[in-house]
Amino acid sequence: MLRFETAGESHGECLVATLVGLPAGVPVSLPRVDRELWRRQQGYGRGGRMKIETDHARIVSGVRHSKTIGSPIAILIENKDWKNWTEALPVEDAESSADKRKPLTRPRPGHADLAGSLKYNFHDARYILERASARETTARVAAGALAKAFLAEFGIAVASHVVQVGPAGLECEASWEEIVALGSREEVLLNCVDAGAEQRMKAVVDEAYRTGDTVGGVFEVVAHGAPPGLGSHTTWDNRLDGKLAQAIVSIQAVKGVEIGRAAAGSAAMGSKVQDTIHYDHESRTFTRGANRAGGLEGGMTNGQDVVVRGMLKPISTLRRPLESVDFETREPALAAYERSDVCVVPAAGVIGEAMVALVLASAMLEKFGGDSIDETKSNFKGYVEQVKNF
Ligand SMILES: Cc1cc2nc3c(=O)[nH]c(=O)nc-3n(C[C@H](O)[C@H](O)[C@H](O)COP(=O)(O)O)c2cc1C
Repeated sequence: MLRFETAGESHGECLVATLVGLPAGVPVSLPRVDRELWRRQQGYGRGGRMKIETDHARIVSGVRHSKTIGSPIAILIENKDWKNWTEALPVEDAESSADKRKPLTRPRPGHADLAGSLKYNFHDARYILERASARETTARVAAGALAKAFLAEFGIAVASHVVQVGPAGLECEASWEEIVALGSREEVLLNCVDAGAEQRMKAVVDEAYRTGDTVGGVFEVVAHGAPPGLGSHTTWDNRLDGKLAQAIVSIQAVKGVEIGRAAAGSAAMGSKVQDTIHYDHESRTFTRGANRAGGLEGGMTNGQDVVVRGMLKPISTLRRPLESVDFETREPALAAYERSDVCVVPAAGVIGEAMVALVLASAMLEKFGGDSIDETKSNFKGYVEQVKNF
């Protein structure tokens, strides 16, 4: 099975991802990892920080001659902004550094600032902010790029698109081909398959810029080519829908998750929601009338596209700060302002892809895992054959 962890702070020296459990022999392309990191930095509505950083993954272990070797993989991504923070956030304390600190004592509503300060007993929310920041997701995306490389060996691909920004939504269904095509764009506006809807989304972000406000929205991640039977109905914690939901909601600012067309389904009659089952005698395969279930039934993949949405609240930091209280004086004060994004829905979609890829890669390894990619592939082939001859 696959384990992954991240370390690193928003203005620390670097971000770190470790990935343990990928079999030996998975091809790894650094430009492909960097491309994913680049995609995470794009989208209309990003703040000044993304202009400072050009993320680049440095793999320091577990990959040799462009292939995994079965040992733990460690990836480092440098924070260019660190040079502006070395005195404010030194690893080793020194008396001379006291006046270089940038304490945050007016906690920002919608952030980890207050709850984290109370929990860890800090009177400076800076230490909380540094780790709670979504800069951490850079490491997730790097690890996710390797999970994607593993899945590609089995013909599984993961892509995302934006279906809503504020009140502006995509009003048509997006095909898999349209969603995949977005991933090769060299300029990313709002990562929407429909140009008209994308312009309406852009107008919402422009309005937020004008008024010092922020917006949220909805992204959709689609995984194509997964075999039926990943995850299991047998225990609550093996249900793949639950694992995917946790992975998506763990993304900063994501407050809701939808599998398939859950929201519409909850308002409709059952006869209009379940995906009918059919059989094609020629190809000897089961087919389905639709994919409203988002490729998941009973906590298992059913062979259709896996479709998961993440709902983002509007970004918490506002140029017109909200009411807060100063830690020192306990008097009302406007919340601190840190340079901030206004809309991050396309970037959150890229992070969602990484999280879905990591969950699916883990489920694949649980079912077919071998020490090498060849062993894993032969286990997979045997199962595909079994399903074909069912
Ligand atoms: C890609 C991305 C970038 C983000 N950038 C910002 C930002 O610039 N300013 C901000 O206030 N919140 C930003 N957030 C959201 C916060 O990190 C998040 O709201 C905060 O850590 C509190 O966590 P919660 O919203 O999950 O409760 C971003 C989220 C994502 C996914």
